[in-house]
Amino acid sequence: MNRSFKLALVVGFLFSITFFIIQSCGKQQVDLTKPAVYVGSAKCQECHEGVYDGWKSTLHPHQFKEASPNAIVGDFELKNTLAAGGYTSKMFKKDNKFFVTTKGPEGKEGTYEVKYVLGGFWKQRYVTEFPNGGLHILPVQWIVKAQKWEDFRGLEKQQPGDGVFWADKARTYQFNCTGCHDVGIEFKYDVKTDKYENTNWIEKSVGCERCHGPGSNHVDAPIEQKVKTIVNPAKLHDPTRAALVCGQCHTRGESKGKLHNFKKTEYPSLTYRPGDPVVNFDYDTKPGLNPDGSAKDHRQQYLDY
Ligand code: HEC
Ligand code: HEC
Ligand code: HEC
Ligand code: HEC
Repeated sequence: MNRSFKLALVVGFLFSITFFIIQSCGKQQVDLTKPAVYVGSAKCQECHEGVYDGWKSTLHPHQFKEASPNAIVGDFELKNTLAAGGYTSKMFKKDNKFFVTTKGPEGKEGTYEVKYVLGGFWKQRYVTEFPNGGLHILPVQWIVKAQKWEDFRGLEKQQPGDGVFWADKARTYQFNCTGCHDVGIEFKYDVKTDKYENTNWIEKSVGCERCHGPGSNHVDAPIEQKVKTIVNPAKLHDPTRAALVCGQCHTRGESKGKLHNFKKTEYPSLTYRPGDPVVNFDYDTKPGLNPDGSAKDHRQQYLDY
C-alpha cells in the first residue's frame, strides 16, 4: 500500500466515525412547550412490547369496532325481537350486515343499519349513523351472560323528545360515550343546523394514552427527555389525581354545559389529561344510587374507591 492510499483510508475512517457520532447524538431535543398530540397504542408497542402485550390482555383495547359478523355477539337471527313499551323491535342480519327495526325520531318506525358495536364482554350496544352525522346508540342491548335483549334508552321508560330517548338530538355517541371509550376524538357539531362533521378517532379503544397522556413528544424525544415527556401515573404526587387517571372514566357524572336544553356530555371535556382534576373540565361526578351514596350501577368504581 502506498502512503497516500493509507492516508485516504485513515481520513475515510475518521470521517465515517464522525458522521456516525453526529448521527446518533444529534437526535433533536423536543420542544417541551409544544403540546403533544395522540399517536395511538401501536406506536407505543414499537418500544414497549411487554407492556403492550399486557394491555392487550385486559378489556381496555377491546372496544368500539365496525360492525361485522365477527364483532357481533347479539342474536340477530333466532331470539331476535324485543318487546318494550307496547312495541316489538326486530334485529336482523342481511348479506352480512346488521339492522334494527324500531321506533326512531318522533316515534316513527324505521330500519337502522348497525355501523359500530361497543363492548361484548358483559353486554353489547349498537351504533347507527343518522344522515346528519350523529351516531346514535340503538335502543336494544345484548346481555351476554343472560343471552337476552334488553331495552336501552328506548321504548320502555323513555319518550321521543325527553332528551334521553335514543334518537333525540342530544343523545349521540359523540356527546355521551366517546370521551370514555376512545383516544384522540375529534368532531365538529353545529348546534344551529344540528350537523356533525369530521368525526374521527386516533384509536377506537382505551389506548395507552388515556392513562399516559398524548405521546408524540415522548416518541420523538431523545433518551434523556423520555421520562419528562410522558405521564407516569405512579409518579403523580396527589393521590386523588392519581386515582382520577382511572376515575375520569370509571365514574358517572355530567357536564354543567347544556345541549338542546339537556345535559351535554357524560364525560370530562376532551381536553382532560391524566394528572388533571376532572372538576376543571366541565365535569361533576354523581353520587351512587344506594341510599348511603355508594355505587349501585356499574362503572362507579372511582366513587366506591
Ligand atoms: C422510540 C421508543 C419509544 C416509544 C415509541 C415510546 N416509548 Fe415510552 N419510553 C421509552 C424509553 C426509552 C423509556 C425509558 C426512559 C428511562 O427509563 O429513562 C420510556 C418510558 C416510558 C414510561 C415511563 C416513564 C417514567 O416516568 O418512568 C411510560 C409511562 C411510557 N414510556 C409510555 C409510553 C407510551 C404511552 C408510548 C406511546 C405513546 C410510548 N411510551 C412510546 C421509549 C419509547
Ligand atoms: C364516564 C365514562 C363513560 C361514559 C360516558 C360511557 N362509558 Fe361505557 N363504560 C365505561 C367504563 C369505565 C366501563 C367498564 C366498567 C364497568 O363495566 O363497570 C364501560 C362499559 C361499557 C360497556 C360494557 C362493555 C363490555 O364489554 O361488556 C358498554 C357496552 C358501554 N360501556 C357502552 C357505552 C355507551 C353506549 C355509552 C354512551 C351512551 C357509554 N358506554 C358511556 C365508561 C363510560
Ligand atoms: C388503564 C390505564 C393504563 C393504560 C391503558 C396503560 N397504562 Fe401504562 N401504566 C398505568 C399505570 C397506572 C402505571 C403505573 C404502574 C405502577 O408503577 O404502579 C403504568 C406504567 C407504565 C410504564 C412504566 C412501568 C413499566 O411497567 O414499564 C410504562 C412504560 C407504561 N405504563 C406503558 C404503557 C403502554 C405502552 C401502554 C399501552 C400499550 C399502557 N401503558 C397502557 C396505566 C395504564
Ligand atoms: C378512557 C377511559 C378509561 C380509563 C382512563 C380507564 N378505564 Fe378501565 N375501562 C374502561 C372501559 C370503557 C372498560 C370496558 C371495556 C370493555 O369491557 O369492553 C374498562 C374496563 C376495565 C376493567 C374490567 C372491568 C370488568 O367489567 O371486567 C378494569 C379492571 C379496569 N377497567 C380498570 C381500570 C384501571 C385500574 C384504570 C386506571 C389505571 C382504568 N381502568 C382506566 C375505560 C377506562
